[in-house]
Amino acid sequence: MDHETAPLHDRSVTSFASDNYSGIHPEVLAALAAANGGHQTAYGEDVYTAALKEEMGKLFGKDVEVFPVFNGTGANVVGLQSLLPRWGAVVCAATAHINMDENGAPERVGGMKLLAVPTPDGKLTPELIDKEAWGFGDEHRAQPLAVSITQTTELGTCYTPAEVRAICEHAHSLGMKVHMDGARLANAAAHLGVPVREFTSDAGVDVLSFGGTKNGIMFGEAVVALNPEAADGLIYLRKMNMQLSSKMRFISAQLLALLANDLWLDSAAHANAMAARLRAAVEGLPGVEITRDTQSNGVFAVLPEGVADRLRTSFKFYDWDAAAREVRWMCSFDTTEADVDAFAAALRAELAA
Ligand SMILES: Cc1ncc(COP(=O)(O)O)c(C=O)c1O
Repeated sequence: MDHETAPLHDRSVTSFASDNYSGIHPEVLAALAAANGGHQTAYGEDVYTAALKEEMGKLFGKDVEVFPVFNGTGANVVGLQSLLPRWGAVVCAATAHINMDENGAPERVGGMKLLAVPTPDGKLTPELIDKEAWGFGDEHRAQPLAVSITQTTELGTCYTPAEVRAICEHAHSLGMKVHMDGARLANAAAHLGVPVREFTSDAGVDVLSFGGTKNGIMFGEAVVALNPEAADGLIYLRKMNMQLSSKMRFISAQLLALLANDLWLDSAAHANAMAARLRAAVEGLPGVEITRDTQSNGVFAVLPEGVADRLRTSFKFYDWDAAAREVRWMCSFDTTEADVDAFAAALRAELAA
């Protein structure tokens, strides 16, 4: 009997809504199949998770500790909790995913206070951190004991290694620890063209949320303790926060496939290149204002009234700031040049209509 099921969606339809709209990279899917069959010890005592630790060690330094988890929100909550006592608070950009898009999970589930700072471009600086890094020792103030930065940022911008280093040095001088939300770490590595260590472990980041889902895996991220001495209790926190996968080999196998032969960098470089192509195709069109630097896989723009909604009948994408008519177009590992060109042509047609 044939149990094969037909897809329920049109596989030729793509969008510019989110890198999470994409599917799974074929090499990752093949790695999942290869990891299937037979029995492996559950809860991370499997050969794939051991191999993942080896590979992460090559990237970030051999003493790092690696904790695969289900998703990015979980990685951030678990990682941040490991850096803080019960009375701790986290300084972050107001636009940070932990502040805007995690439904209060860091506060409600993680039990920490977020101290959000407005930024011009999604990036913190030592000066901006100082706006909330005060009141140390004051029992009336949640203690700002960690900084969280996002690489690349939610606005598609990228910290340079020197910028990350300056933040880490400043934070550490104040007794604060540093977390990096690396949901799009690969896009940053591809954009900067330097070894990933230069803007993570070597720059002083203590705990990293290493992203996989946005870069072609089905599900899975990893909390990476770059400085294990700074992070307390990660094995317990992962379980307490419901992020401990029993069949962990399948998260680890996907992340391994991503790291093998630099698939993670090639996929991210491709997504970045598609964003650059999109920007080049639409920049300068009458009525289109590009609003942010394009340093990763997203393009942000303001469009004339009504254009976004008409365009959305053919291509999905989100408003970023509806009041300002600013939209966000995201590219993925599987965005093609033809997708970009068709989208730019549709935009041109709408602008002319
Ligand atoms: C910057 C950033 N961090 C983390 C995440 C991970 O979120 P999720 O919990 O949906 O995997 C996302 C996803 O949108 C993100 O953009």
